[in-house]
Amino acid sequence: MTRIKSLMEARHRVLSRNLSVAYDNPINIVRGSMQYLYDDEGRRYLDAYNNVAHVGHCHPKVVAAGQQQMELLNTNTRYLNELIIRYAESLTATLPESLSVCFFVNSGSEANELAIRLARAHTRAREMIVLDHAYHGNTTTLIDISPYKHDGPGGEGAPSWVHKVPLPASDEDAQQVVDLIRGRLCGFIAESMPSVAGQIVLPEGYLANVYDAVRAAGGVCIADEVQTGYGRIGTHFWAFEKYGVVPDIVVLGKPIGNGHPIGAVITTRAIADSFDNGMEFFSTFGGNNVSCAIGLKVLEVVHEEKLQAHALQVGERLVTGLRDLQQRHEIISDVRGSGLFLGVELKQEATRVVNRMREHAILLGTEGPLHNVIKIRPPMPFSETDADVLLSTLAEVLPQRSTKSTKTD
Ligand SMILES: Cc1ncc(COP(=O)(O)O)c(C=O)c1O
Repeated sequence: MTRIKSLMEARHRVLSRNLSVAYDNPINIVRGSMQYLYDDEGRRYLDAYNNVAHVGHCHPKVVAAGQQQMELLNTNTRYLNELIIRYAESLTATLPESLSVCFFVNSGSEANELAIRLARAHTRAREMIVLDHAYHGNTTTLIDISPYKHDGPGGEGAPSWVHKVPLPASDEDAQQVVDLIRGRLCGFIAESMPSVAGQIVLPEGYLANVYDAVRAAGGVCIADEVQTGYGRIGTHFWAFEKYGVVPDIVVLGKPIGNGHPIGAVITTRAIADSFDNGMEFFSTFGGNNVSCAIGLKVLEVVHEEKLQAHALQVGERLVTGLRDLQQRHEIISDVRGSGLFLGVELKQEATRVVNRMREHAILLGTEGPLHNVIKIRPPMPFSETDADVLLSTLAEVLPQRSTKSTKTD
């Protein structure tokens, strides 16, 4: 039996079968370094997909920061420690002034869950408005506000307090939010560039219109920046900045720990005060010393290595190359995104293309309700040379002409 087959069998024996595995021909990854992953036979893969390793897989400075802190101390937030204050100060320094109070947890899901609690405490309301196809996390409440899950296989639909608006096509579609508002609203939550929905760039004035309407109804605006923050979109450090809005609550996860589990919620003093109602907030691991040392170092590296400007430059090269491919391959129906947060929509065969790219040692994924959007979202050190390799390989792998197949995959 091959190693892969025996690992798959063992996995199925001891883990739940709804943990999916990437690619028809799964990979046993044993090592990572910056934008590369290595399998058990030493084959190197160009990682064009994993945003969690934001500053690069096993970035030496982040590893050293974690190791040093593990040797010194790792305990909880009930003891005074400078690190958590420095980390909170560094994070809030990247945000508009009103977003000044940080909470630390251990995942994007925990962070969104806490964001909902904050919004409820502040507004004393429950009604939430969400974008169609959104995903905000794996807890019970977050499945409730994630149409991608509750409208998908195994889902049971939205509960009565959750109202879904279609992905907007223009600024005027903010009216669909207004039309949904009945009485007092708890809030509106959206990724600033909907990722799971297919790497969507929102119409320019949409969020501003929606935020105005939500606030007029007493609600708060939550920006899920779990995938889009930390300079990834190149033009701005946070994706909400692209639209000139300031959220009331910002939710962070994935990249901020570079693989170490950290989630964060940053909000206004007024919302934090509403939440400070006598009930203690405590997370055993959230804000522990090792997490803070790692989180602080990741942020330092993002600034030191000018990764936002790098994402802009490499992203522009990718978009130019992809648009060029679009001219030659009619199967490509759209190229969109910003910086190193890109989507290539295909008329069909996206899964086949991604599997073929994997055979060429380039890792990508699919996204969107029809799974027809190739998602390019690499670790940020992904270089111009890497971009050229991705583009030339994609040119080889894409079918020359669109076939008549009606299957969408
Ligand atoms: C936009 C968004 N929000 C929240 C989450 C949940 O984060 P986690 O898996 O760390 O709980 C995810 C995870 O995929 C996500 O993509």
